[in-house]
Amino acid sequence: MKLAALAAILAAMAAAGTGAQPPFDLVLRGGRVVDGTGAPARVADVGIRDGRIAAVGRLARAPATETVDVTGLVVAPGFIDVHTHADDLARHPEAANFTRMGVTTIVAGNCGSSAVDVSAALEEIRAARAAVNYATLVGHNSVRAAVMGSARRDPTLPELARMKALVFKAMADGAVGFSTGLQYVPGTYAATPEIVELARVAANAGGLYASHMRNEGTALEQAIRETLFVGRQSGARVQISHLKVDAKGRWGASAAALKMIDEARAAGQDVRADQYAYTAGSSGLGIRFPSWALEGGRDRIAERLNDAAVWARIKKEMLALLQERGFEDLSWATVASYRADPSLNGLSLAEVAQKLSGSRDTGAQLEAARTLMLGGAPSMVYHFMDESDVERIMRHPFVSVAADSGVLEPSDATRPHPRGYGNTARVLGRYVRERRVISLEEAVRKMTSLPADHFRLPGRGRLAPGSAADIVIFDAARVRDAATFDAPHAYPEGIPHVLVNGAFVVRDGKPTGERPGAVLARSMLNQR
Ligand code: ZN
Ligand code: CU
Repeated sequence: MKLAALAAILAAMAAAGTGAQPPFDLVLRGGRVVDGTGAPARVADVGIRDGRIAAVGRLARAPATETVDVTGLVVAPGFIDVHTHADDLARHPEAANFTRMGVTTIVAGNCGSSAVDVSAALEEIRAARAAVNYATLVGHNSVRAAVMGSARRDPTLPELARMKALVFKAMADGAVGFSTGLQYVPGTYAATPEIVELARVAANAGGLYASHMRNEGTALEQAIRETLFVGRQSGARVQISHLKVDAKGRWGASAAALKMIDEARAAGQDVRADQYAYTAGSSGLGIRFPSWALEGGRDRIAERLNDAAVWARIKKEMLALLQERGFEDLSWATVASYRADPSLNGLSLAEVAQKLSGSRDTGAQLEAARTLMLGGAPSMVYHFMDESDVERIMRHPFVSVAADSGVLEPSDATRPHPRGYGNTARVLGRYVRERRVISLEEAVRKMTSLPADHFRLPGRGRLAPGSAADIVIFDAARVRDAATFDAPHAYPEGIPHVLVNGAFVVRDGKPTGERPGAVLARSMLNQR
């Protein structure tokens, strides 16, 4: 930020010295500027030059190559989504599901899953030229799998050293931090000290620790305690990923969770979180099975599921886990994408059970889960949260907005979670305009400067001179998500223009095909 501010001053001095302001490439005229800091909206013009914001104010007579009248529309910094799974951006560089909801910068490598060779991954995205800016975390599960496969044990000292070396290299290559997915194999087999050791390597390079915690419901507080402990012991800033309460028996526990975050912050720890604006989550079906049953890869899993005695034990544990969480069955779980039989996509496990066995009772649902697991473990949508927790978490000033989605492309066959198309628009439409949970300025701050500062993405997240010209222009009275659980492949409404580094990627509601995104590699020299 300091450098950017200095650059802006120097540019202004240079212009003053020659006595003539060079023309702007583009002026956005007459919009309501919501600058990302939380400050009240104000009517102002925005001048853009060389991919950066050159001026914000009254630019009525300033010469410009192009002027676009945006009177009545909100002009905000492009949205920054720090929790994505867009690790395959090089193969889908237009990322329209992100750009069309106003997202101009994404952070991949979340939930413990990333490229291990970050240098190669970033190079691939640079070569593909993406529409959005891209940064990545390095994931614990990926690093652990590279060194130990899916072994369910602590690492040996040489294995730990190799994992540390991989994290060190990833940070040197430009990763912005270290992520865990402690409900997934093999990360779930790691004890806390291993995570501390690896997070410390990231922290020493200026990176943060982002965690999909070990538990998000029955033992939510314990999981937060572990996450905060890792932050303190490693010295890493902490990001709690997709904060939620996912057990019916614990609905309301968001109050206790947020209190723990407040207390840690009051004690001087920099901990923040993110969330998506829905009462359903999404992940693989495997997460419903006891983690010991998932060790060793697909063949070993199949062996266990095909052994009647072992399956009986697994089923018993699954049932106990369900009851512990306050659920009677798995009817809240629906199939998002199942390659082996796409006709099941969109059906709840009760409906799948009905179709497969003629019964929808809990036992039949568990048998259906076994069949799906053997058929290749579909991705699922889980309706397991309560609206009051979603809203309480949203009101917290250190929780940013993030979709937890990969790059999605329209398809008739799959039923992914609608968050990948609608998340930001849903916050602005449903939670700002309709339910008035937070103000417009606060919502924009949660999508811009709040995550940019925590992830240290310099020159992003504020609409101010010197910043990159990542800009979203939307109609606050009309913006809304159109994607639903039944029909998720739908772009939001009321977001006519989106610019990345000064170039339109969406114009008049349509993608332009431009791909001006930058790779944001953390530089070890710039930070710390
Ligand atoms: Zn996750
Ligand atoms: Cu995730």
